[in-house]
Amino acid sequence: MLSRTHVRLREELAGELRGLDARGLRRSFEELPAGNFCSNDYLGLAGHPHLREEVLRAVREAPRVASTGSRLLSGHVAAWGELEEEFAQFAGSEAALYFGSGYAANLGLLTTLLGPGDLVFSDALNHASLIDGMRLSGARKLVYAHLDLNALEDALRAHAAETCRKVIVTESVFSMDGDCAPLARLLELAERYGAGVVVDEAHATGVHGQGGRAAGKVVRKIGRSCTPAARRWPARARLSAAANYSSKRC
Ligand SMILES: Cc1ncc(COP(=O)(O)O)c(C=O)c1O
Repeated sequence: MLSRTHVRLREELAGELRGLDARGLRRSFEELPAGNFCSNDYLGLAGHPHLREEVLRAVREAPRVASTGSRLLSGHVAAWGELEEEFAQFAGSEAALYFGSGYAANLGLLTTLLGPGDLVFSDALNHASLIDGMRLSGARKLVYAHLDLNALEDALRAHAAETCRKVIVTESVFSMDGDCAPLARLLELAERYGAGVVVDEAHATGVHGQGGRAAGKVVRKIGRSCTPAARRWPARARLSAAANYSSKRC
């Protein structure tokens, strides 16, 4: 028999679901029957025969097919380190770290970089995972209008006297509208106001930039020529482990 507490909880949850129904906000999963125009599989890799074969080979040859624990304890396998080194070389970055999903990567990165007392400047159309990461970090968040670098500069200027850590968060190719952040100008602003930059390249990696390396390399090159204030927070690119690809050119 269910306890009274359990029954009450179920009733409350059922009421919340009815509320979502009433507002047309209740979601369910469906497999798309035909043409899919909202995927991020821009290069068609998800069903590519070569990739399929390689996945099967990797599974056959892997020492085990489950982690057995967190990577810090028992879960690490040398192949993951090799994969990350290979990706870092591809991207031209110092290092890479793979996560199970883009969502986990953004939460892990932003809660590590930012904490209460820090300031984060966020484009209004940033992906929900970036928003959750910023929220969980406890940093103060200032949202600037989508791609509006004048608004971003106003916000940076208004907080110029504060000595806390400051980070600008943007996507390079935006997942919702497919438009691009003016990264060179954004990085100039970051340098001028001593802020770090986090760039989510989920929709750029693989198809943007030289050899599909997206903007990460450019971001780092500009970051290295920054003033000492900005170098404290070298420009960083978050290179999605999920490798979402974009065919849009900006
Ligand atoms: C820009 C951006 N960042 C992060 C994510 C989250 O990635 P995932 O679906 O792998 O959790 C997405 C997902 O679509 C995205 O578009």
